[in-house]
Amino acid sequence: MIEMRKVDKHFGSVIALSDISMKVHSGEVMCLLGDNGAGKSTLIKTLSGVHQPTHGEFLVDCREAHFTSPSDALDAGIATVFQDLAMIPLMSITRNFFMGREPTVGWGPLRRVDWKFADRVAQEEMAKIGIDVRDPGQPVGTLSGGERQCVAIARAVYFGAKVLILDEPTSALGVKQASVVLRYIAKARADGLAVIFITHNVHHAYPVGDAFTILKRGTSLGTFRKEDVSREEVLNMMAGGAELESLDAELAEFQRADDQARSPSASAVA
Ligand SMILES: Nc1ncnc2c1ncn2[C@@H]1O[C@H](COP(=O)(O)OP(=O)(O)O)[C@@H](O)[C@H]1O
Ligand SMILES: [Mg+2]
Repeated sequence: MIEMRKVDKHFGSVIALSDISMKVHSGEVMCLLGDNGAGKSTLIKTLSGVHQPTHGEFLVDCREAHFTSPSDALDAGIATVFQDLAMIPLMSITRNFFMGREPTVGWGPLRRVDWKFADRVAQEEMAKIGIDVRDPGQPVGTLSGGERQCVAIARAVYFGAKVLILDEPTSALGVKQASVVLRYIAKARADGLAVIFITHNVHHAYPVGDAFTILKRGTSLGTFRKEDVSREEVLNMMAGGAELESLDAELAEFQRADDQARSPSASAVA
């Protein structure tokens, strides 16, 4: 569905991406993993028309693609839910759902937005993903973070996305809300979409991912199929692995110091 070939992206003298190649198939979840600043957002912004690659090319459905704006990418069926979620909290669920693509009724001077239809679709689409919206006219700001992410995802799917790109959809969410989003990612895959799921949380990525591409300081450490790699190996390849190990050692040291400090007073009490 999507193939990137040797993509580089420079911002002036900053090399944000270097020599990235990656393939994503339909009906598959590709997790893009990496620590903050690894280049994950830059990579998908390049794929979705926000940035132009400095070098390299990419193909959509085996054809070479050049996007000059996100709406170009959307026309090609690539829908992106950006990290800085584009929603207006004070506007209704329906208005956010249809923003920029409002359905209309009537012709000529009598043409107007068909809010009744829009409300019904918004409610139905949210119900399909298991979120019961009593009033689609309620402001998006009244939804939980997970539900808000789901509005953005449901919108992308409703407008016919073939590729769904999600930039850290779970990073600001609690466990329960994150599971709503993860379940929806699994459903999008079952519907035959190609999903690129960006996160720095291996525990979110591993259960839903079919393949993992690991970015580190703008370069790819490679793509690994789930059957070839364990959760621990993925974690270790990300910047976090080694650091977490030394953090573990450090914390154990604190614990020992704590225990030592506590034991004399404990015996004094006794
Ligand atoms: N518009 C930009 N101009 C200059 N540098 C940028 C720009 N966007 C991203 N970068 C740089 O690219 C690197 C990767 O950023 P980003 O893709 O946002 O990382 P991630 O999403 O993995 O946390 C960072 O060092 C960042 O400073
Ligand atoms: Mg990012």
